[in-house]
Amino acid sequence: MRTHKCGELNTQQLGETVSICGWVHRRRDHGGVIFIDLRDRAGLVQVVIDPDMADTFATAESVRSEYVLQITGLVRHRPEGTVNANMHSGAIEILAKDIVVLNESETPPFPVESEIEVNEELRLRYRYIDLRRTVMQEKMKVRRDVTRVLRNFLDDNEFFEIETPYLTKATPEGARDYIVPSRTHENSFFALPQSPQLYKQMLMVAGMDRYYQVVRCFRDEDLRADRQPEFTQLDIETSFMDENEIMHIMEEMIRQLFIKVIGVNLGDKFPRMTHQEAVSRYGVDRPDLRIPLELVDIAEDMKDVDFKVFSAPANDPKGRVVAMRVPNAGDLSRKDIDALTKYVSIYGARGLAYIKVNDLAAGVDGLQSPIVKFAPAEVWDSVLAKTGAQNGDLIFFGADKAGIVNEAMGALRVKLGHDLNLLQGDWKPVWVIDFPMFDWDEKSQRWNAIHHPFTAPSCSVEELVANPGAALSRAYDLVLNGTEVGGGSIRINRTSMQQTVLEILGIGEDEAREKFGFLLDALKYGAPPHGGLAFGLDRLVMLMTGSTSIRDVIAFPKTQSAACPLVSAPAVVTDEQLKELGIRLIKPAGKEKAKD
Ligand code: AMO
Ligand code: AMP
Repeated sequence: MRTHKCGELNTQQLGETVSICGWVHRRRDHGGVIFIDLRDRAGLVQVVIDPDMADTFATAESVRSEYVLQITGLVRHRPEGTVNANMHSGAIEILAKDIVVLNESETPPFPVESEIEVNEELRLRYRYIDLRRTVMQEKMKVRRDVTRVLRNFLDDNEFFEIETPYLTKATPEGARDYIVPSRTHENSFFALPQSPQLYKQMLMVAGMDRYYQVVRCFRDEDLRADRQPEFTQLDIETSFMDENEIMHIMEEMIRQLFIKVIGVNLGDKFPRMTHQEAVSRYGVDRPDLRIPLELVDIAEDMKDVDFKVFSAPANDPKGRVVAMRVPNAGDLSRKDIDALTKYVSIYGARGLAYIKVNDLAAGVDGLQSPIVKFAPAEVWDSVLAKTGAQNGDLIFFGADKAGIVNEAMGALRVKLGHDLNLLQGDWKPVWVIDFPMFDWDEKSQRWNAIHHPFTAPSCSVEELVANPGAALSRAYDLVLNGTEVGGGSIRINRTSMQQTVLEILGIGEDEAREKFGFLLDALKYGAPPHGGLAFGLDRLVMLMTGSTSIRDVIAFPKTQSAACPLVSAPAVVTDEQLKELGIRLIKPAGKEKAKD
């Protein structure tokens, strides 16, 4: 139907008669001459319709935005003064000879322009129109480039792409499962995989050596800008490689990815940081190293002060007291600080003490703060020295249980970094290593796996049992600009260690057999040392395209409430279907208002 794509035409085709197909981006009537900008995936081209071609002109007069046309015409120079240097086809135009209307279009619900202020629900409902916009087409192109470069790299390095089942059994990655009833097995359900974790481990037992898969994962969890209920992983597993070898090859892959797709060099060697250091300096296990603000421990200084808010957590082994110096932020107003106090309260902080450093030479008199009176001058001297405070700085304080302080001050650090334009550098990758194996869940009074229960500890079974809380794991996360883009670990490859870890997690022998018997069996038959990781493909593309949400880099994402407004899913099913599945609803359909 066409000889060229619209956006690829330029002076090379001058004098040729070409046929193009696409959508009417814009139609302008200029005193007897009609201009149509025709758009396809490659971009726009300007078409001119002269009134002396009566039939063609009449057709051109009838077309509207988003009509689909086939146009045949002559490529010619644009008249002087009308050349558009920003457009690939900006030096030429097409003098139309023939126009065929391939299809008409109703007026679209929003204009097909890159810069639009349109409610996201509406964009998702008409996603096929939303995706016509150049910005979205470009994001999809980056996504295509990303998977292509990753696949090429892995193919070159002898990884096999192998598919694993979607109808399977629960894989614990910390979220709720999406379950699918089985018609053929009464009262039984499949779970959609939260990741192919156990299959890829069994592929290693099967001697596949190096595996990868661009794979959908399903997690029923609270959604955020960087979380979707179904998302895509680049999932990887290898045999006979230790964590340094794995991190090395993966780093090379990510480095090549950024160079080839967006021309960014992420640097020769990504820095590594222990989990403990990340939490201590930045309050989080995924630090954004572009932000030059740090948390400084000052519990030692606050143990004996008269201010309970500080002295209580300073003396509590589970407490933490930190100071965070913000250079040149002394001019933040009372109102600004109140707003920040409200912000940290979302994370459970009960206040946000601060000191404005007006004049260091004047000692305590040079400090402006509601809390200076609560502690003697030596305490503040020590705090100022530890934070490296300068005149004009603002110092914020957090004091509470360590978890609350880390979350609140970690979030404050990121907010101030962005709000005050403090970011240094564009891309800061970091491997976070030496995670603890477990964390203690106060509510349920049990240990939780920090990565997943198949991650190997860096100690022996005996040491692990003696002190689970002190054990470190052989896990690693790749963090880029404060986003966890990937994570993995060396796995347990011996049944005894796997059983021990499950026991520590409170999964008894019977439950372990029922849930993971197949894995425990597989480990008995010569399971090689193995390990791997998974990258969040959507998150990588989100960062690489500068998008603020992963929804923008997924063709058909779900809303924040995990629904699809385009096809109206999830939806009710018929009584027959339910009957066939042996399912009776607690609240039958129709009694409850349908969700969006
Ligand atoms: P993990 O659970 O850390 O590890 O997931 C790996 C990566 O997947 C991305 N990710 C998500 N992206 C979008 N929406 C979500 N809901 C979501 N959840 C996770 C993140 C994350 O780093 N089986 C292990 C990997 C392994 O050990 O090899 C796993 O799934 O970028
Ligand atoms: P108060 O004596 O409660 O008015 O608190 C004095 C200052 O300490 C105020 O600036 C509060 O915002 C701050 N503050 C109170 N609780 C905390 C806390 N847990 N961490 C940090 N600052 C706090």
